[in-house]
Amino acid sequence: MSVLIKGGLIVTNSGRYVADVYVEGEKIKAIGTDLDYPADEVVDAAGQYVLPGAIDPHTHISMPFMGTHAQDDYETGTIAAACGGVTSLVDFDLQQAGESLLEAIERKQSWAAGKACVDYSLHPAIMDPRPEVIDEVKLACQEYGTPSFKIFMVYDFRVDDATMVKLLEETKKYGGLVQVHAENVYVIQHMNEVLEKAGKLAPYYHAMSRPNLAEEEAVMRAAKMVELTGSRIYIVHLSSQEALFRIKEARDRGINVYAETCPQYLLLDDERYNEPDFGGAKYVMSPPLRTPESNAALWGGINSGDVQVLATDHCPFDFKGIKDMFGKDDYKKIPNGAPGIETLLTLIHTEGVVKGRITLEKMVDVLATGTARMFGLTDKGEIAAGKDADIVIFNPEQKFTITQSKLHMNVDYTPFEGFELTGMPSAVYSRGLKVTQWNGSQMEFVGQVGRGRFIKRAPFEGF
Ligand code: URP
Ligand code: ZN
Ligand code: ZN
Repeated sequence: MSVLIKGGLIVTNSGRYVADVYVEGEKIKAIGTDLDYPADEVVDAAGQYVLPGAIDPHTHISMPFMGTHAQDDYETGTIAAACGGVTSLVDFDLQQAGESLLEAIERKQSWAAGKACVDYSLHPAIMDPRPEVIDEVKLACQEYGTPSFKIFMVYDFRVDDATMVKLLEETKKYGGLVQVHAENVYVIQHMNEVLEKAGKLAPYYHAMSRPNLAEEEAVMRAAKMVELTGSRIYIVHLSSQEALFRIKEARDRGINVYAETCPQYLLLDDERYNEPDFGGAKYVMSPPLRTPESNAALWGGINSGDVQVLATDHCPFDFKGIKDMFGKDDYKKIPNGAPGIETLLTLIHTEGVVKGRITLEKMVDVLATGTARMFGLTDKGEIAAGKDADIVIFNPEQKFTITQSKLHMNVDYTPFEGFELTGMPSAVYSRGLKVTQWNGSQMEFVGQVGRGRFIKRAPFEGF
């Protein structure tokens, strides 16, 4: 199968130019002007952008959590991803007690087999840090193709600081990366007790129970561990301006702290917790939504380079029957998380690029090129000869109003209901195969269920 994409505006993380792209099989073979290769499909992309497929490095596909499980499986989740122009995802793989990292990886690969519609990789989340599991970091970096390791400083499955230090030491030896959910668990436990005594149990108090300071302190502590070890760390779902300030401070001192944020922390604020009819539960996620000042600071962090990656933290639970039932008497029981994988690229284009907050090139960097570099996805993230043909042909004029009924995620709401978009994919290719297209009113899936592959990632070589 070959595709010739004619006359689109190719966008990289450092510039843009009009050219043709020739795809043969799964790869981009050539880029140039007036290419005249015979092709099975010729696409007139004049007036459209040719973008690398977005990479979402923070998803929770089918994750068991808080008495239920995240509702998208590898089929529904990757169809939704493709409909949003996301052509690779790196999913969290929560190690169960007694499991080795390899067993955890093989278990999650078995969930993806026959279902994934775009390519995926895994970050093992270390929850049972036995000495042999810490030793396995070497193999995960050098053989399994999973050189990034998630740890939580909160939840029942959190690890202690000593484990964080050991992991930082091991990842430094083998080119790995520790990713951390940074919140101070003791502050949160205390706030939960205070709020419980006062009978303050509505969704709004979820945000009060997890103040900015809890994130700030945990980020500072994690940065200190990096200073101690000379390693690197990546803060997931950064939400507050105070924590961002601590990241800048550390980075200014040469400490390797990287960060990701998500559309919800850029575009929504804690007013959402006041939605009537228990609607605030839709936004119960950790860390919680913050204030408009934090939203603005995080856009600034993207532009200053202190935040290098945008991800979704896609973790969908129905509002009706799950969020509104589990937590109806207590915010602490509302499953934490929200859907987002399908709206990542389009929201960032409209709210970031169209509204002048970031450039098109920055968008490509934080959604694809920089993400591929951060996580060792060597064949992904760029429109360049030799790379996988993961391509979004993007119509920058197409209007679309986000509404749950026109999305493909397996969940009954979107936190971005009613957002007016300017710009939608007109077609999305995954390793050379068209997987989704605009049908005149919404995106539709035209790919092959089960074609998505596990991608082995490369360790970092810069230590
Ligand atoms: O609330 C969230 N973020 N749920 C998913 C799990 C996590 O902490 O990332
Ligand atoms: Zn988290
Ligand atoms: Zn998450």
